[in-house]
Amino acid sequence: MVIPYKHEPFTNFGLEENQEQYNQGLAKVSSYLGEKYPLIIGGERIFTEEQIVSVNPSNHKEVIGSVSKASRDLAEKAMQIADTTFNTWKKVKPEVRADILFRAAAIIRRRKHEFSALLTKEAGKPWNEADADTAEAIDFLEFYARQMLQLKDGIPVESRPGEYNRFNYIPLGVGVVISPWNFPFAIMAGTTVAAVVTGNTVLLKPASTTPVVAYKFLEVLEEAGLPAGVVNFVPGSGAEVGDYLVDHPRTRFISFTGSKEVGIRIYERAAKVNPGQIWLKRVIAEMGGKDTMVVDKEADLELAAKSIVSSAFGFSGQKCSACSRAVIHQDVYDQVLARAIELTNELTVGNPEDRSTYMGPVNDQAAFNKVMSYVQIGREEGRVVTGGEGDDSTGWFIKPTIVADVAEDARLMKEEIFGPVVAFCKAKDFDHALEIANNTEYGLTGAVISNNRANIEKAREDFHAGNLYFNRGCTGAIVGYQPFGGFNMSGTDSKAGGPDYLVLHMQGKTTSEML
Ligand code: NAD
Ligand code: ALA
Repeated sequence: MVIPYKHEPFTNFGLEENQEQYNQGLAKVSSYLGEKYPLIIGGERIFTEEQIVSVNPSNHKEVIGSVSKASRDLAEKAMQIADTTFNTWKKVKPEVRADILFRAAAIIRRRKHEFSALLTKEAGKPWNEADADTAEAIDFLEFYARQMLQLKDGIPVESRPGEYNRFNYIPLGVGVVISPWNFPFAIMAGTTVAAVVTGNTVLLKPASTTPVVAYKFLEVLEEAGLPAGVVNFVPGSGAEVGDYLVDHPRTRFISFTGSKEVGIRIYERAAKVNPGQIWLKRVIAEMGGKDTMVVDKEADLELAAKSIVSSAFGFSGQKCSACSRAVIHQDVYDQVLARAIELTNELTVGNPEDRSTYMGPVNDQAAFNKVMSYVQIGREEGRVVTGGEGDDSTGWFIKPTIVADVAEDARLMKEEIFGPVVAFCKAKDFDHALEIANNTEYGLTGAVISNNRANIEKAREDFHAGNLYFNRGCTGAIVGYQPFGGFNMSGTDSKAGGPDYLVLHMQGKTTSEML
């Protein structure tokens, strides 16, 4: 019997033994820094001349690894193999597919701190954030394996006398999985295995700044018994390989997580039926956010300030769920702002390999330049009351930044910054605060800090966000507990880690037999 699902506990790094294990993880990762990694197509290792060089964002001189880069020809080869392998993989029993996920989860659990340490090095994640990313990857494996076991016999439907009706789910075909760098393990692994456990084959194109952790994950899947050709590893340029695979007539679905701009491009291209294509492609697209925390006048103001600061600056604000707008009732605005500044001034910024670091770097030079340009916009649109400085000499470090007194229609209140910058905006009353919160094209996460029951219920109905939290921060959804996905330009609301997610990777088939 499969034991019921429970999420993977986070590591208590207050314990010396856990600190030691993490440091051993860092040492292990250091032992393979700079290695060269191939593509994996049908199990075959293919090294290319052109490489993607993955560097440590805390120290850009440190190379994490060089990963081969797929050309269009190699992407085509991978497509053909995935297409052929689909014919055998779709026949493998769901129980067997689920077992591979369970085994992969066990392997990762054994190497947990090595994976987290790799996230510290490759993505700049502080210990607790890296640990949460690894835990979430394990959760996706455990959760989707169980979900598949529940769906394997289909859903009961009615039958009239003399007939026998069945409703079952069957796989779709070849899926192109395109993942972001900010949850380079959890989202990459979760989107891949959701497609795999449902009987599809996959072409995985990970983000170009975090391909090494994706390669290591493929090794785990192989060790867990995944047959060659089910997941093919094809890192490459979005414009070259991404577009090619999205447009390909044999692509049956695309599972994308990333920015609004790229998501829209994929959605539009996938809608076009190309020569030789005999289906309409499915698109799962989970995109950006402009997430708001609302603070009511009747509220625990200490909780409000703490929740805003942790949601805004956890992993340097580089979460799609991060709080980038704090909308506060005018009666308590000054108090919450003053406390948030105090708490922010206590945060440490530096190399995340050091356990005491709260905030590491941002992802790369492009992210650094973009965030710093928004700091400049913040100076024009409001008051930079703390932070505002960056240093890209060794790594891409930016101080946690609060911009106060930002008008509700300012750019800082509308555009996704994706870095450690939060705008504070004053609301006349609670209704006005909700109006400001909803005044965005996005709709991913949100939170309300309030002790007023009526206002909480009003927000439950009227605050238009896919993941809405009360009296806590707006980040940190747990697989199987808070299914995750957003409204409007935040995407297709596929709800990763939720009960409907796997079905998006399958199609329902009805059979009706006369008895
Ligand atoms: P991005 O859109 O730049 O890249 C995402 C992936 O798309 C990468 O693998 C990239 O190489 C690929 N890509 C780029 N151009 C492509 C093309 N033309 N065709 C196919 N693939 C292409 O996003 P990012 O910078 O990696 O990630 C940050 C963004 O992701 C933020 O906007 C964030 O809010 C969003 N995000 C959303 C969720 C969610 O669940 N809603 C979760 C994490 C991140
Ligand atoms: N699932 C992540 C969170 O909720 C993005 O913060």
